[in-house]
Amino acid sequence: MALALILAAGRGERLGFDSPKALVGLAGRPLVNWSVSTLRDVGGIDRIVVAMPSEDAPGKRQGTFIEGSSPVVVLVAGGETRSESVRMALAAAGPGDPVLVHDAARPLLTVELVRRTLAALAEDDSLDAAIAAVPVADTIKRVGDDGVVSETLDRSALWAVQTPQVFRRSALERALDVPAEVLAQATDDAWLVERLGGRVAVVPADGENLKITTPLDLALAELLIARRPD
Ligand code: CTP
Ligand code: MG
Repeated sequence: MALALILAAGRGERLGFDSPKALVGLAGRPLVNWSVSTLRDVGGIDRIVVAMPSEDAPGKRQGTFIEGSSPVVVLVAGGETRSESVRMALAAAGPGDPVLVHDAARPLLTVELVRRTLAALAEDDSLDAAIAAVPVADTIKRVGDDGVVSETLDRSALWAVQTPQVFRRSALERALDVPAEVLAQATDDAWLVERLGGRVAVVPADGENLKITTPLDLALAELLIARRPD
């Protein structure tokens, strides 16, 4: 059975609220609750581990969103960097393979996207990971320190990567078994697998699975939720 790790241990500095980003309200419930509830609805995930800021886990927040018992939801303390939080959540997780990693900062995750990502890995034995991503819409240029363009990249081969990212457990454990400096460089977990030669496939997602970084993103997410069918 699959195991899901939700990363919710960031401070949310760019969002600028007093509380950690994962606990900021979105359409009446904390951001992290949206991902917990979607992952619960997937079926086939029997344990969800949530990495929270260390002062929030496993103490006073526990019970605020853990209703029901299946799948089990466990709160653990996260680390200094995102990938350290992944490592700590996985170490505390108990059994489960494959391992799905998702950012609490993407509350508009759908059951359908999670199922397609899990299926992509399950259907191809040659893969170490399958990750949600969207083709890049903007033209991307490399720019030097002097503000001058040095290169325009071929957009047709560029994808913007999201979570969920689903890994064979052994590949993720190996990828995370590196010094903290390497973990600190990772902006996603798939890169840690790629740098060891792992095979990672993209699963087409869409822009609705947006990442809440700034107050503008939060406002957009409110609008997208308001137009969702019940
Ligand atoms: N995250 C985490 N542990 C960390 C840092 C980040 O679990 N030490 C999680 C965040 O909670 C978030 C996801 O990783 O769900 C993506 O990170 P980001 O969007 O950068 O969130 P924050 O780090 O909270 O925001 P900011 O960088 O603006 O402080
Ligand atoms: Mg951050």
